Amino acid sequence: MTFDRAVVSSPASIANFGPGFDAFGLCLESPKDRISIRRLPDGKRMVKVLGKHTLPTHPEKNTASYAAIKLAETCGHEDFGFAMTVRKGMKPGSGLGSSAASSAGGALAMAALLGVKNKQMILEAAAMGEELVSGSRHFDNVSAAIYGGFTIVSDFKTRTVIQIRPPQFQVIVAVPNISIETRMAREILPLTVSLRDAVCNVGWASGMMHAMMKQNVKMIGSYLNDKLAIPYRRELIPGYDEVQKAATDAGALGVSIGGSGPAVFAISQGNAVRIKAAMVGAFRKAGLGSESFITVPGKGARIESLA
Ligand code: HSE
Repeated sequence: MTFDRAVVSSPASIANFGPGFDAFGLCLESPKDRISIRRLPDGKRMVKVLGKHTLPTHPEKNTASYAAIKLAETCGHEDFGFAMTVRKGMKPGSGLGSSAASSAGGALAMAALLGVKNKQMILEAAAMGEELVSGSRHFDNVSAAIYGGFTIVSDFKTRTVIQIRPPQFQVIVAVPNISIETRMAREILPLTVSLRDAVCNVGWASGMMHAMMKQNVKMIGSYLNDKLAIPYRRELIPGYDEVQKAATDAGALGVSIGGSGPAVFAISQGNAVRIKAAMVGAFRKAGLGSESFITVPGKGARIESLA
């Protein structure tokens, strides 16, 4: 069965989640993008972006419509015409999976019109949208946005995604008013890592999995460590160490960088308002204003209406 109109919501997510570079993702309950799609005749394509952020509106350059086009092509609809409206709920380039939210939403919106339910197909199309922006086809943010909860891309080649329902905890996010391009934040990483650093990350990532399965939030926080990306990326975020310390002193159970940054997130069970104020204050001392919010793990992109 096919449809003419769909509206989907697609959430922010935290990639890497400490030791799981390009593998772990945590879906957030908010913020969210809202994407509407309407079928158009004769292969005509139009994109509108609403909200305060300027993004491309060319259908082949906008990540949401590009992912939608890729999904349609996979299903044999090369010239599928549509009008799409993307209402951005989050700032691009903040480390909260903004491009993944849009591409997952775009792919899901097209899937809804075509009656496609296969999540793997939606994931592949969404990752192509992600690649358009970041220059690399990583699956951590899009997996979290599509599947919800805590996700692990356990095999990059076969795109195997494991989904775990995380326990209840608060996620406190502070986004300083600087922008970091994912493409650049990936280019600064070394192409090879030492055996010792790899061993550290394997241990922490395994510990994180165990903590998630045990639903032990304190233990989850204790494994929010990383040797593969954070040591290089923390340099890009003025005041990162101070924000980490301030959050921990205020009661955070663990602190790390969201994806490629500059968002810094903390997790806690209680004390969230105090932790948020401490993080914002530490950024302010480092000379940076920041936007901050408190959320919880979320359930993933969903179809809000279909007709
Ligand atoms: N895993 C990716 C990175 C996420 O850290 O580069 C980027 O959004």
